[in-house]
Amino acid sequence: MAQQGWHIGVIGGSGLYAPGSLDDEQSISVRSPFGEPSGPVTTGSLNGIRFTFLARHGEGHRLSPSTVNYRANIDVLKRCGVTDIVALSAIGSLREPIRPGEFIAIDQLIDRTVLRERSFFGEGLVAHVSLADPTCPLLSERVVDAAEQAGVPTHRGGCYVAIEGPQFSTRAESHMYREWGADVIGMTAMPEARLAREAELPYALLGMVTDYDCWRENDEAVDVAQVLEVAQENAAKARLSLRKLASSLPPERPANAIDRALDNAIITPRRFWK
Ligand code: ADE
Repeated sequence: MAQQGWHIGVIGGSGLYAPGSLDDEQSISVRSPFGEPSGPVTTGSLNGIRFTFLARHGEGHRLSPSTVNYRANIDVLKRCGVTDIVALSAIGSLREPIRPGEFIAIDQLIDRTVLRERSFFGEGLVAHVSLADPTCPLLSERVVDAAEQAGVPTHRGGCYVAIEGPQFSTRAESHMYREWGADVIGMTAMPEARLAREAELPYALLGMVTDYDCWRENDEAVDVAQVLEVAQENAAKARLSLRKLASSLPPERPANAIDRALDNAIITPRRFWK
């Protein structure tokens, strides 16, 4: 099979509503049969690598974590020809050594969301993709290296618990998630990671820590003012990390097993496909 070039899809979270300037930048509205995506994509290149950016919460942060149309967003990136997704998300830390202002490449996820469409499959065509490793280790490695080159202290691996929100957690929940083994908390990585896998797109999740949630003794509980203040500082570091990623990718994109995640996942015999 012919080697494919890189085309990085970037999903920007709270505080990151634009990619920073890209060469030959264009804004394009792409339609999806799954409904309205969060907004138009911004596409262009950095160091000769194509990047297509989508702001998860839309322009002006009008979509809550529960109302983001994750299926349309992933579908639109796939239609744009994206080969890999780098998702950037503001998160709270559930561990002392994971500090606000630092980044973490997530390698495990716990899903506590309840209100969201979580699959492209189910009616007429049933598939069960593997989600044992919900993020792509190869892409995550490259993303961590890029963030470190950008000068951001970045943790390699950690477990993210995705809550429905929009409220932050209670103290009891925050303590429980720590006991479950979660290292960080956020509201958006699920079902995004599930859908990226079903779309056969390697997905790396770079969590940008904004706060310590509410588990620490004698500490103020997280609020939006704190999240936004740190998220804005984190956004500049994220843009620089993307630039470092662009300049560190090899010209050829090696094949990735996730490119063929559906090969052993579809259970409906072909003669029944609708
Ligand atoms: N996003 C940023 N900080 C968060 C927190 N503490 N809980 C859930 N989502 C978050």
